[in-house]
Amino acid sequence: MEWFMIFASVAVIWLASLCKFILHASSFYSYHSSFLNNTAGSKRNILLVIAHPDDESMFFSPTISLLTSRGHNVHILCMSTGNADNMGDVRKEELYRASAILKVPIQQVTVMDHPDFQDGFGKIWNTSLLSKIVEKKYNEHAIDIIITFDNYGVSGHCNHRDVHHGVRRFMLDTAQQDIEAWELVSTNIIRKYSGPIDIWFSLRSAQSSLNGQMHCVLNEYPRRSYAAMSQHLSQWAWFRKLFVSFSSYTYVNTLRKINK
Ligand SMILES: *[C@@H]1O[C@H](CO)[C@@H](O)[C@H](O)[C@H]1NC(C)=O
Ligand SMILES: *[C@@H]1O[C@H](CO)[C@@H](O)[C@H](O)[C@H]1NC(C)=O
Repeated sequence: MEWFMIFASVAVIWLASLCKFILHASSFYSYHSSFLNNTAGSKRNILLVIAHPDDESMFFSPTISLLTSRGHNVHILCMSTGNADNMGDVRKEELYRASAILKVPIQQVTVMDHPDFQDGFGKIWNTSLLSKIVEKKYNEHAIDIIITFDNYGVSGHCNHRDVHHGVRRFMLDTAQQDIEAWELVSTNIIRKYSGPIDIWFSLRSAQSSLNGQMHCVLNEYPRRSYAAMSQHLSQWAWFRKLFVSFSSYTYVNTLRKINK
């Protein structure tokens, strides 16, 4: 009986959050960063650096959807084909299809297949080489802003963390000043699986952050995220469907500015 009450309460809060979110999403926005607002209509070139095909849909889809809907040019650099189960070629194609759903043109998606960046736990990626690859993309596409994982990398996966370290390394090593980069804030496990309920926590933490160093990005198109994830058919097992529905990263992203 007690469990039923707890379950019912959670379900009610969940539904209320989802409704509030769908009905009032636009009134939550008060971004201080022009790349998120883009009221002036200035198009920026954004580079999203991820580790495996499906990171973009599982974790970053609220951000990608916001950026593309505001007219920005999003490029995706995926550091591996996700070949841990010898499915690399398939997963690469899946990333292209998911990107199309997220409105990122296929020619702006790069999937690396480098011996030094192979998918897997315990595979340490060469951050100095990673930094060089990021730098090449940065210059090639006149990138204005980089977005990537934070130091924990959402799930703690070492490949996610190495991607973060590679981007930081690039920021430190390059002669170019004022590189703007943002990281996806990892939340604790309860928040991570609280679905749309996490919107409240995220809004609070972003509001209390100092002078616009943190932004909370709500997903205007949660169904698009689900559709994008479902393109990753090789990964689309029942537990991932559950993950996508319960994961707060389907509904909200908190971005924090990376300072050198
Ligand atoms: C972004 O939009 C909000 C609300 O529309 C506004 O208060 C804020 O000043 C804008 N920020 C920039 C940088 O344009
Ligand atoms: C990492 O990459 C750098 C730059 O390409 C290279 O000089 C270095 O030898 C590499 N380190 C390892 C451990 O492979």
